[in-house]
Amino acid sequence: MLDRKSFLQSSLLGLAGISFPLKWKSLSPKTVWQNQPLVVSTWDAGIEANKGAWKILGNGGRALDAVEAGVMVTESSQNCCVGLGANPDRDGFVTLDASIMDEHFNCGSVAFLERIKHPISVARRVMEKTPHVMLVGAGAQQFAVAEGFPLEEQKLSPDAEKNYNEWQKEHKYRPIVNIENSKSHGPHDNIFDLSGHFNHDTIGMVALDARGNLSGSCTTSGMGFKMRGRVGDSPIIGAGLFVDNEVGAVTATGQGEDVIRVCGAHSVIEYMRQGLAPEEACRKAVERIARIKGEGAKQIQVAFLALSKEGEHGAYAIQKGFSYALHDQNDEKLVASKSYFS
Ligand code: GLY
Repeated sequence: MLDRKSFLQSSLLGLAGISFPLKWKSLSPKTVWQNQPLVVSTWDAGIEANKGAWKILGNGGRALDAVEAGVMVTESSQNCCVGLGANPDRDGFVTLDASIMDEHFNCGSVAFLERIKHPISVARRVMEKTPHVMLVGAGAQQFAVAEGFPLEEQKLSPDAEKNYNEWQKEHKYRPIVNIENSKSHGPHDNIFDLSGHFNHDTIGMVALDARGNLSGSCTTSGMGFKMRGRVGDSPIIGAGLFVDNEVGAVTATGQGEDVIRVCGAHSVIEYMRQGLAPEEACRKAVERIARIKGEGAKQIQVAFLALSKEGEHGAYAIQKGFSYALHDQNDEKLVASKSYFS
């Protein structure tokens, strides 16, 4: 005869076994969160961005403030990949996308925004000062200016200028997979890099603060030499970014079209809700994209980065070469991600 406690345990296990047998098995050892803030962000540029976030997180600040301040560092960096100095679209214009989400499902985003230095801060204003989630193009710019953001002159970084001039020689419209000569992996040959250039375009950041609340941000110039008006996954809540304060926070990088197709970040959160650890949840979403793309998966890069409510983090990419930056009170480092193709 089962006592009440054993009955409840066996019923719960039975339920889990029937509904989610594989997921149950994939549960990672439970990390117990101990009021320790933590921030993770995509690619090598995340190291500097995390420092910006840590100034807030390390002083007991809110994750939302940290993820905004963190990616602003990258937006200011005048590199060829994020912010106003980034690779332009095929007509020579830099167009920016960004999104932000807090612990209460509040979210805001901007897309196809031109001549504004900090799209992430405009996204936050959309979240906090309008009844809307997303503003795009001229409307987003008009809102930014009304909010006091200066209208900047477009000035490509020297790298972006060089990349664009080289791209114009052929004018070949073929999206290039995101790559990076990552410090964590060393320089690598990448068959997808048609121009031989550093070509990642996005920073996504997710953080957990000392109160145990999660937030996330994502900002990008999008795919280099894209069609004018093209918008990727980064400003789409549920694709490039999603936060559920009961479960975790997820961001994506890589070819946005394929992230949008599967509502990538939201899918990862749902896998985590079912019990998967962050890396496993990211792997499942990547495998789903790879299955959908078939042979085409070899031509793209997509990576997901996830942080759980308990502070467990993990990532998974289609191609090798993706890494993410971690900052907590003990450590500041790059973590190499596993990948679908080795
Ligand atoms: N992941 C960035 C983009 O596709 O625009």
